[in-house]
Amino acid sequence: MAIYYEEKNKIFRLDTKKSTYLIGLTPEGYVGHIYYGDRLFHDVDSCLLRMEEAPFTPSVNKREKSAFLDAFPMEYPTGGIGDYRESCLNIRNEQGCMGSEFHYVSHEIYKGKRALEGLPASFGNEDEVETLEILMEDPVLEVSLVLCYSAFEKENVITRNVRICNHGKQTLKLEKVYSACLDMDNEEFEMITLCGSWARERRIQRHELHYGKQSASSAKGESSHQEHPFLALVTPGTNQLQGKVYAMNFVYSGNFLAQAELSQFDSVRMVMGINREEFCWNLRKGETFQAPEAVLVYSGEGLGEMTRSFHDFYRNHMIRSPYLHKKRPILINNWEATYFDFDTDKLLAIAREAKKSGIEMLVMDDGWFGERNLDNSSLGDWTVNEKKIKGGLKHLVDEVNAIGLEFGIWFEPEMISPDSELYRKHPEWAIQIPSREATQSRCQYVLDLSRPEVQDYAYECVAKILRSANIAYVKWDMNRQLSDLGSSWLDRESQQELFHRYVLGLYRMQERLVTEFPNLLLENCSGGGARFDPGMLYYSPQIWCSDDTDAVERLAIQEGTAFIYPLSAMGAHVSDCPNHAVGRVTPFETRGHVALAGTFGYELDITKIPQEDRDMIPRQTEMYHKYHELIREGDYYRIASYRENNSYDCWAVAAKDKSEVLVTYVQVLAGANRHSRKIYFQGFDSNALYRLEGTKKTYSGERLMKMGFLMEALTGDFRSRLYHFVKTEEYH
Ligand code: DGJ
Repeated sequence: MAIYYEEKNKIFRLDTKKSTYLIGLTPEGYVGHIYYGDRLFHDVDSCLLRMEEAPFTPSVNKREKSAFLDAFPMEYPTGGIGDYRESCLNIRNEQGCMGSEFHYVSHEIYKGKRALEGLPASFGNEDEVETLEILMEDPVLEVSLVLCYSAFEKENVITRNVRICNHGKQTLKLEKVYSACLDMDNEEFEMITLCGSWARERRIQRHELHYGKQSASSAKGESSHQEHPFLALVTPGTNQLQGKVYAMNFVYSGNFLAQAELSQFDSVRMVMGINREEFCWNLRKGETFQAPEAVLVYSGEGLGEMTRSFHDFYRNHMIRSPYLHKKRPILINNWEATYFDFDTDKLLAIAREAKKSGIEMLVMDDGWFGERNLDNSSLGDWTVNEKKIKGGLKHLVDEVNAIGLEFGIWFEPEMISPDSELYRKHPEWAIQIPSREATQSRCQYVLDLSRPEVQDYAYECVAKILRSANIAYVKWDMNRQLSDLGSSWLDRESQQELFHRYVLGLYRMQERLVTEFPNLLLENCSGGGARFDPGMLYYSPQIWCSDDTDAVERLAIQEGTAFIYPLSAMGAHVSDCPNHAVGRVTPFETRGHVALAGTFGYELDITKIPQEDRDMIPRQTEMYHKYHELIREGDYYRIASYRENNSYDCWAVAAKDKSEVLVTYVQVLAGANRHSRKIYFQGFDSNALYRLEGTKKTYSGERLMKMGFLMEALTGDFRSRLYHFVKTEEYH
């Protein structure tokens, strides 16, 4: 049993294989946090709630109530009543006052997990997950609050979400609704977040926690290039192999806040939810608000274990696509090959050459519709430009199929160019503030997806094209952040619902897409990787990781992305050099090894690249065919980080049964010291013998992990090697 309630001590206990989460009830019905950490196997008590500690006693006459509230470890703190740390829920009543207080009413424990209305969320069958729902009430506001916890035993994951229902008559304003809170004692925590910029997404950043609040957030309408809906608190000295890690990741693709706060009493409050900035939801009589899901991972065995918990969880319980366990076709995308300058003949020439090298799909990127020959027009006019696509789309797709390749296509359905037929007809469909000229970004505005007719129009544009030809793949792009928040559809009172309604509209459109086209391979994208989050993974099994395709820059980007997300989800391509983002020249072989850690594909004009590079493609596509399953399904181990050592990167993927391990090594900068480098591997079975493929050498797993492996010195910068170890025998 993963979840149970112990009546005597009034404790809810949630167990996963390696972690335990304890929730306690006080005599007044406050729901408090007792413990989250290593799995407990014996009886527990609730003394960590510290109800007896003077002067913080919640006495019956409520004499010490404010002092109590400001120190008590709350499962879900509410604002306005005396807990001055960050609250998770702020409700304003019709008189204009903000304050709410909830007490326990009842609970329900059941096997399985219910879906969240209109939102992406994890799923699992009755053998895989159990759920606890704690019902609480504020009788003054006549509002109920349900705290939902699901325990995924095998993956060591607890998910949380909340829903709020208005049973009274007044319209309430939800000014803040977060999804999860963890109140803990400080253990000299350090905080890890992922930050970045366009072409530099998800860099791992770590610093000591200081008093007060420190956060990562987005107010850009998407999860963003700059910050990421992820936060981990770790004990000092935590590395890949050891240390305590408390991590949260948010299943949401819009504005978020991930915050840690060190309080006056050395307790830490960690929260995750929709960013309160420019958020206010009107909760009318009888209505329910469902907040998105937060994913919590505790690891007592360092960051590597945390990573593998997230990977398994997203692969087993978030990604729904039929491609999840299937080989993804090796695609060639024409963006960096041609940008907007292409036509049918050019694409077919690329397809013919690609076919010869073992590539399996051609993806036509931006520029095939309306009058779009640059990025300054036509978004919204999704009709094929037959001046470029001579003979029409179906003809092109049929020709590509006849060559023996599948066909994929790019869309940016959420956008509208000021220079478009759509904008001339429906300027009110763009998000903008009346009487104020909206800010353009990449010469475009954002469509108001809170408006059902806009969702329907944009969806139909995509669906009509997909119905017209044999299209196997869609790249769904989004190239600007939201600004000038104004909707001509929403009334005055509801304007601050726009950010969230936008995200709900997007989810509704993608849900329709995967329902109508269940076999479509969908790849999400946002100016590279600005919307690489678990919410989007619910719809697409892969997401374009970054517009920076340089093999060296990709090391840090992919390390940060793979810190939480499985390799099977990371869109990664081999591109031409000098690299278009940074101008660097790297060996073609290295570019292949780095892209192999993701979905693998090409983004270059194969008819123009040097012959020696072209000659290497058949070997690379063969390499992908050999390793795709291991990389997609295996366990990922981060062995060394160029980000930390300024010299080299190394990671491994081990089969679940440890029968084979693929190690990738990239030497970024060569040194005059030509000595081999000792590297301690991870991921092997220490009681087994492995043969290094291509040699006659055998090594025990124990030796590779404890004594290390001597990595040969490579001559030249940006050089890489793959080492494939295959288990040959086990010791007994
Ligand atoms: C941004 C994407 O990340 C690129 O790969 C490309 O599709 C362009 N948009 C097209 O405009």
